[in-house]
Amino acid sequence: MAVTQERSAGLDVARIREDFPILSRTIGGKPLVYLDSTNTAQRPRQVIDAEREFYEQHNANAHRAIYFLGEEATDLYEGARAKTARFLGAPDPSTIVFTRGTTESVNLVAHAWGRKFLKEGDEILLTEMEHHSDIVPWQFAARDTGAVLRYLGLTDDGLLDLSNLEALLTERTKILCVTGMSNSLGTITPLPRLIEAAHAVGALVLVDGAQLVPHRGANVVELDCDFLAFSGHKMLGPTASGGLFAKRELLEAMDPFLGGGEMINEVFHDHSTFNEVPWKFEAGTMNVAQEVAFGAAIDYLEALGMDRVREHEEAITAYALERLSEVGARIFGPTDVAVHGGVVSFWYRDVHPHDLATILNEEGVAIRAGHHCNQLVMRRYGVPATARASFYVYNTVQEVDALVEALGKAESVFT
Ligand code: ALA
Repeated sequence: MAVTQERSAGLDVARIREDFPILSRTIGGKPLVYLDSTNTAQRPRQVIDAEREFYEQHNANAHRAIYFLGEEATDLYEGARAKTARFLGAPDPSTIVFTRGTTESVNLVAHAWGRKFLKEGDEILLTEMEHHSDIVPWQFAARDTGAVLRYLGLTDDGLLDLSNLEALLTERTKILCVTGMSNSLGTITPLPRLIEAAHAVGALVLVDGAQLVPHRGANVVELDCDFLAFSGHKMLGPTASGGLFAKRELLEAMDPFLGGGEMINEVFHDHSTFNEVPWKFEAGTMNVAQEVAFGAAIDYLEALGMDRVREHEEAITAYALERLSEVGARIFGPTDVAVHGGVVSFWYRDVHPHDLATILNEEGVAIRAGHHCNQLVMRRYGVPATARASFYVYNTVQEVDALVEALGKAESVFT
C-alpha cells in the first residue's frame, strides 16, 4: 500500500533522526534500520551530551560532598528525580526511587515489600505476558514466604484473558503484578479495570512500565497504581537508569532493599536506623550521571509530546501490521492498534526467527529474535521464539518497507 503523509504526521521524524548520531551508520554498506527499541532505545545527542557534560563539568558524588561540585551533582541528581516525578504525574518526588531499571525495581518490591508483608497462603497474581523480570523475583518471594503464584492467562489473539478474573482475584490476593504493555505481543493491558478490581479486594498493584512509560506514558495518580517500575534505557536514556514509583506510605512501611552507605541514619554495632525515603532505598554510589542524563531524555520526550509519540507509533504499527499481514506473516498479539503498542512479533513462512534475523542483519535491518524473556508467552502460542520489530520516535514507514523487502530476501534463501 502507498506510504501516506499522515501515517507519520504525528512527529517530524526527519528532524528527530538528525538528533540520533547512530542512525546515520551503515551496516555492511546498507543504511542501519534499527527496529529493536523495545530491547533498548537509541540515544539522542541531547542525552549523550548531558551525560558527557556531567562528567566534564559537575562530576562529584551526590549527597556526599559539601563542596561546590558535590552540591551541583546533588542538585542535578535530585533535579532528575523531580523531572521523573513530573513526567509520571507523581506530586511528591520522594516517591521516586532511582534504580538500574525495571528489573531492579521489581526485585526491590518483591524483596522489600514481599518478604515483609507476604505470608503462607497469600497469593501473588501475575499474568502470562509478564517479562521474566516480573515473574522470577515473585517466584523467589513465594519460595521464601510460602505465598502462592497465580496467573491470568492469554486469549488466542494476545489479550489478557479476564474471563476468570473474579476467581483469581480474591481476598487472598495481596498483589497483582501486570505489565502495562507486553514486550513481545505489544498488548496494551486494561490497567484501570485491573487496578480497580485489585483494589476492590484489598490487593496492591505493581505495573511493569518498561514498555508503557516510554511509548504511551503513564500518570500514577490517574492510574492509582501502587508501584510502577520503569527503565531509562528504553526511553532514550542511559543504560542502568530509571526507577520505581511507589506510594509514599508503602515506601515508609517497607524494609530497605540493599544495605550500605547513604541509606542509613545511624549505624551501631548491632543495628542501624535508616534514612528517609527515597534515600533509604538508594544504597551506595548511585548512577548519578546516568540519572541526570535520564532527566535529559525526559526533557526530550516532553518536548516531542507523549501524545504525538503515541500517535506516531500507532500509525507506524498499523502500517507494519498491514504490510506484514499482506506478505503472509503470522502476527502474534492483537491487530487493533488501540491496544497494540509499537512492537510486532511475527513468524514469516517457516523461517526460524534466528535465521530471519541473521538474513535481515545482512540488509542492515536490526530486529530481535528469541523468546524476549517471555517464555510463558512462547509456550502459550506453541513457538520457541518470534521475530520482533519494534518502533520508536525515530522510525519511519520506509523502514517498515525495508523490513518487508528484506523478508523477501530471507524467503528466497530459506525456502
Ligand atoms: N525486555 C527487553 C526486550 O524485550 C530486553 O527486548
